[in-house]
Amino acid sequence: MEMTVHVILSMATLFLMDRACAVPVQYSVMLDAGSSSTKLRVYSWPERSSTSSTLHITEKYFLRIKPPLSSFQENLELLPEYLLNLTSLAQSQVPYYSHNKTHIYLLATAGIRFLKEEKAKSLMDTVRRVLSDKRNHNFKYTERSVRILSGEEEGVFAWITANYHNGFFSSNRSLSKAVGVLEMGGGSTQITFVPDGPLLAHMFSLRIAGKIYNLYSHSYLNFGKDYMDRRIKEYLIQQNPSAKTILNPCSLENDNYNYDNGDTTVIFRGSSSPSECLSIISNFLRHSYDTCYPKPCAIGSIYQPSIGSDIFYATASFAFIAADLNATDATGRLDIVKLNQTAHDYCSKTIEEAYSVYRVPSAYGSSTCMMALYITELLTFSYGFPVNTDRIFSFQKVNGKSLDWPFGAVVYEAELMARDYPCGPIPLETNAAAGQSPTALLELLILLCFSTLCAFV
Ligand SMILES: *[C@@H]1O[C@H](CO)[C@@H](O)[C@H](O)[C@H]1NC(C)=O
Ligand SMILES: *[C@@H]1O[C@H](CO)[C@@H](O)[C@H](O)[C@H]1NC(C)=O
Ligand SMILES: *[C@@H]1O[C@H](CO)[C@@H](O)[C@H](O)[C@H]1NC(C)=O
Ligand SMILES: *[C@@H]1O[C@H](CO)[C@@H](O)[C@H](O)[C@H]1NC(C)=O
Ligand SMILES: *[C@@H]1O[C@H](CO)[C@@H](O)[C@H](O)[C@H]1NC(C)=O
Repeated sequence: MEMTVHVILSMATLFLMDRACAVPVQYSVMLDAGSSSTKLRVYSWPERSSTSSTLHITEKYFLRIKPPLSSFQENLELLPEYLLNLTSLAQSQVPYYSHNKTHIYLLATAGIRFLKEEKAKSLMDTVRRVLSDKRNHNFKYTERSVRILSGEEEGVFAWITANYHNGFFSSNRSLSKAVGVLEMGGGSTQITFVPDGPLLAHMFSLRIAGKIYNLYSHSYLNFGKDYMDRRIKEYLIQQNPSAKTILNPCSLENDNYNYDNGDTTVIFRGSSSPSECLSIISNFLRHSYDTCYPKPCAIGSIYQPSIGSDIFYATASFAFIAADLNATDATGRLDIVKLNQTAHDYCSKTIEEAYSVYRVPSAYGSSTCMMALYITELLTFSYGFPVNTDRIFSFQKVNGKSLDWPFGAVVYEAELMARDYPCGPIPLETNAAAGQSPTALLELLILLCFSTLCAFV
């Protein structure tokens, strides 16, 4: 008897070293339903031994699929096939034996946020109906799987992405070394950071690797690049109600175009007038001192605690504009004084001069002018950065990794479901998948592993 136990124990030790306590790999499928496409990403990570250590998540697969989800709002009957194409693609990227442990998410942003409420609802209801149906795929579906993200969630997830990729979560850095994140998309712009002082509103709490973070996050849903451009045009039409041709100070001279807002069609003629353009923008950004409570406020009466002393990453359109106008140094540090000077110079040129002096992509001639003026004003007047600040870095990527929100969303969701594997679990499904049905002996060893051995492993 003693001999038998001894043999079993040594076999068990071998078995354990060989495979049983190998850490199982988790997967997650993320469908990022954006305004121009749906991006399918598959992530994987080894289970943690403790929820206080950092998850090591890597992106295994990426594919951009057109058309976007929002294009199905008028033909919902085609949506199931679109989704099934996505899930079958995702299933081919996750090992068979992991399918039923793998969460699937479809998170929608700007493209869906701006649909009429009932349109968005029937679209998302259809997505839910298809993805919650067990016959359609083998992934795990929960109540959190399909939803429209709030602007703040987008900001918070981007904050997680940035601080994950720059190594903050896996180091001993103090909270004051977390970077803040500024994003600028087509629809919205987000600011997310850990304030130095009190946080009175717009707080978002999260736990990562065993620590709690209280973030300030606000999303200005109609202050993104395309919305700002549209608002300026609408404002000019309002100011010139019966005009057929309107000068647009935010567009460059010789950039003339028709604009149709549904009610009326006008011709805009660029007039290359930065100070007039800036005064329209400033009007949109003005403070509402009377209704600002608690103080201070950033735009209108939206509370924002002081930006403190941390580094900020400015991503997406912030980074494109700063790069196009050469307003960053080799480390990515944004020089607002230079951005402002360049903006005023650029915005005074004709569109031909602008293209010949600054090599901006040709579709963005006039919008680069408007955006450079807008960004300067937003960062200084609204957010409160000194014009000579040296702590904004303008990046699309950090350490070669994209700063997009989906990565942070996967970290966040994985943390919500976090479990410890103190003993190193038994990959039963791995064995099954490798075609070895576990024998009675293996099952006994597994039992032993749980009861005694893993204490020494
Ligand atoms: C689904 O995939 C098939 C094969 O690639 C393609 O022909 C079809 O158009 C796709 N359906 C939708 C709705 O995207
Ligand atoms: C997952 O599928 C395997 C068979 O492939 C099954 O043994 C296991 O119970 C399933 N797990 C869940 C959580 O459904
Ligand atoms: C992090 O802190 C722990 C405990 O305070 C210490 O043992 C470890 O060496 C530190 N690691 C680094 C990279 O500073
Ligand atoms: C960009 O600015 C740097 C210094 O601020 C300068 O050395 C470089 O020549 C500029 N590049 C272009 C393309 O203007
Ligand atoms: C930007 O430059 C203009 C023109 O040189 C100047 O009037 C304005 O004060 C500057 N803005 C900031 C925020 O420094």
